[in-house]
Amino acid sequence: MSEQSSALKAAPQSGSASSGQSTGDDFVRIVDVVKRFDETVAVKGVNLSVRKGELFALLGSSGCGKSTLLRMLAGLESVTEGQILIDGEDLASMPPYRRPVNMMFQSYALFPHMSVESNVAFGLKQEGVKGGELKDRVHNALQLVQMAQYAKRKPHQLSGGQQQRVALARSLVKRPKLLLLDEPMSALDKQIRQRTQIELVNILDQVGVTCIMVTHDQEEAMTMANRIAVMSEGRIVQLGTPHEVYEYPNSRFSAQFIGSTNLFDGNVVEDEPDHIFIESPELPVRLYVSHGITGPLGMPVTISVRPERIALTRKPPEGAFNWGRGKVTNIAYMGGYSLYHVMLESGKTVVANVTSLALGEIDSPTLDDEVYVRWSAQAGVVLTS
Ligand SMILES: Nc1ncnc2c1ncn2[C@@H]1O[C@H](COP(=O)(O)OP(=O)(O)OP(=O)(O)O)[C@@H](O)[C@H]1O
Ligand SMILES: [Mg+2]
Repeated sequence: MSEQSSALKAAPQSGSASSGQSTGDDFVRIVDVVKRFDETVAVKGVNLSVRKGELFALLGSSGCGKSTLLRMLAGLESVTEGQILIDGEDLASMPPYRRPVNMMFQSYALFPHMSVESNVAFGLKQEGVKGGELKDRVHNALQLVQMAQYAKRKPHQLSGGQQQRVALARSLVKRPKLLLLDEPMSALDKQIRQRTQIELVNILDQVGVTCIMVTHDQEEAMTMANRIAVMSEGRIVQLGTPHEVYEYPNSRFSAQFIGSTNLFDGNVVEDEPDHIFIESPELPVRLYVSHGITGPLGMPVTISVRPERIALTRKPPEGAFNWGRGKVTNIAYMGGYSLYHVMLESGKTVVANVTSLALGEIDSPTLDDEVYVRWSAQAGVVLTS
């Protein structure tokens, strides 16, 4: 740990000794939280624990309640029902100046007339920090985000990514225990956003601050977060590591929201402990998935198969399951891979993600070519809701 980052580490909070401190696993605890705005219920009973030092992402489409939940964590919005505890202390009983939280907003406006260093110093000055300490802390925060050489510039003399880093320095300089980021990259274009995502993770790692961020960009959540909560209409519908939510979506909503996928509707015709057969009107053969489910025969289910799990062939596949025949209706060239849209005889369109290497091996099919799509028994995930 460098001196610079330890200078920014969350300061021990005075007064917390009087309350029950959390264990590392439930540093932030959100218990049965509901938020109502007149007739709108923006948050409908959320339970969530965030670990100390974790980078946690709230992911969901517009209007699902992400910002509202974040604003309640920041103490900017009251909680209609339920409770929020930070490090074992009830947020509602803490006066605003003692809340160990800092929020960076969806539109992180820097003060346009102030220099970079004045922007970063602003909050500290308000707290009464001055002299050498003020100078050191501002300098360390700017060094952390690699903006020390721009200290004298005004915001309009910086790029979008640089402004974003100054806003981050402004949040971190106050040594919050909990940092809340609302769409931190929304002002950045794609390329600089991807670079900034990695930088931000490294900075947060160095400082060791617990961070909850909101995004509607699933790639951003996947690359940055330790864990993700997928929200829909005020509720958390799935919670897990990026790998878990991507590979094992628990519902049609999660499967479609995190990445893209192919969904086949059908009915269970054979259910054994280690595998399951499904008949679907969308395919000429049965679907075979190498894991069982609990449910009666005939039960309607949906099978999710990711595009990168689907292979394209010219020759008919040999097995008696997991394939379909159709015509190429669209090809989206993505550089290292192409997305092939294949319309099956049933009218169902299947999307396959084919690498350039694999395309060479099958002599790059073009529009209207007849092809087969197939996948393995391990590729499918059975969804029952
Ligand atoms: N102050 C308010 N008064 C009334 N309704 C509100 C208020 N703030 C938010 N809402 C409503 O609560 C719901 C959730 O809003 P919220 O801002 O939390 O969504 P979000 O998930 O952050 O969306 P976005 O991705 O678009 O930022 C929306 O239906 C919104 O209209
Ligand atoms: Mg929002």
